[in-house]
Amino acid sequence: MKLFKLFSGFIFAFLTVSAVTVAQVPLYTFPADDGSKNYYVTSENGVNIFVEEKGDPKNPTIIFSSGFLTSRISWDPQWFDPEICEKFHLVRYDYRGMGNSDKPNMNLYSTDLNDDIFTRYMSNIDNSNSYSLDLHATDLFALISKLSSEYDFKEKKIVLVGWSIGVPISLSFMKNYPDIMIHGLMSISGFVNNTRKAADNDKIALFFQDLIDPQDDWFKVVSGMDGIFSLNSYKPFSDELKLLFLGSAAVAPLEYRLSVITPFSLAEFYSTISIPTLHIIGENDIIVDMEHSLYFASLGQNVETIFYKEVGHCPLWENIKDLNKDIINFVSKI
Ligand SMILES: *[C@@H]1O[C@H](CO)[C@@H](O)[C@H](O)[C@H]1NC(C)=O
Repeated sequence: MKLFKLFSGFIFAFLTVSAVTVAQVPLYTFPADDGSKNYYVTSENGVNIFVEEKGDPKNPTIIFSSGFLTSRISWDPQWFDPEICEKFHLVRYDYRGMGNSDKPNMNLYSTDLNDDIFTRYMSNIDNSNSYSLDLHATDLFALISKLSSEYDFKEKKIVLVGWSIGVPISLSFMKNYPDIMIHGLMSISGFVNNTRKAADNDKIALFFQDLIDPQDDWFKVVSGMDGIFSLNSYKPFSDELKLLFLGSAAVAPLEYRLSVITPFSLAEFYSTISIPTLHIIGENDIIVDMEHSLYFASLGQNVETIFYKEVGHCPLWENIKDLNKDIINFVSKI
């Protein structure tokens, strides 16, 4: 009798719990051996950049650049899409500071400790900022140079697909290396400047502050990362998916995290581009807000814009079906 009571109590508790389950963005897992090859290319300051490549190089090449504080693994739902793999030649890489790439630092700790860390970082920005957009662009250049030494670029179509900060990085590459022909650009939750003023008690701004805590307090830094990834999607990430993002963010050196405060605007450059561009905008993105997304899209000369409902800043995982279809359609037309 007692045992039965216990069991019925257990079952009741179980039912109550399952009744409040909310829809989540799950972590899909993918086969380990998919025929990708990987290697390092050496870029500016001797930094080794980890690259992965797959698919028939005779097909148009898509180069995926991921978001701030994320690795190439962010692209798994696209990288493992059978149709994308069959139609295109795919390349993805880890930024300097992330994933398997080198993680240079500027020895911020060993210089004059009377200055706060921001002052020391900002005073180094022109010469030795190891994580500027321009240096990320040199990494992309090193990668593309390696591809051009292997494949006939005269015949080749190259499309840059960026997510979030991957867009200003792709644009910086195009700006700094105008001799390399890029045939299309896709902005997924991208932005063209970071000079937007944060509103008072803006949650995101507070998380970013923790991320670059002047004492580099580990607990604050990780809480900041946790906060940022919690606000990445409209439906919450499953715990597993959030752990994937947290884990890849955790390796980022302080200098990488600090680079986010360096002001930039690529608005003027973007307005000179006439190649086809596609903007994917999540209607519920709170990291790059709608006002900015519309401003960015309005600058282009050859822009197509697609909005996703009930999607936040991470269409890569939040709306795999439509995003993969839109990638295929866009690149096939080029
Ligand atoms: C940055 O973007 C905002 C829109 O979010 C725009 O109003 C502003 O003019 C832009 N600034 C620069 C320097 O491009």
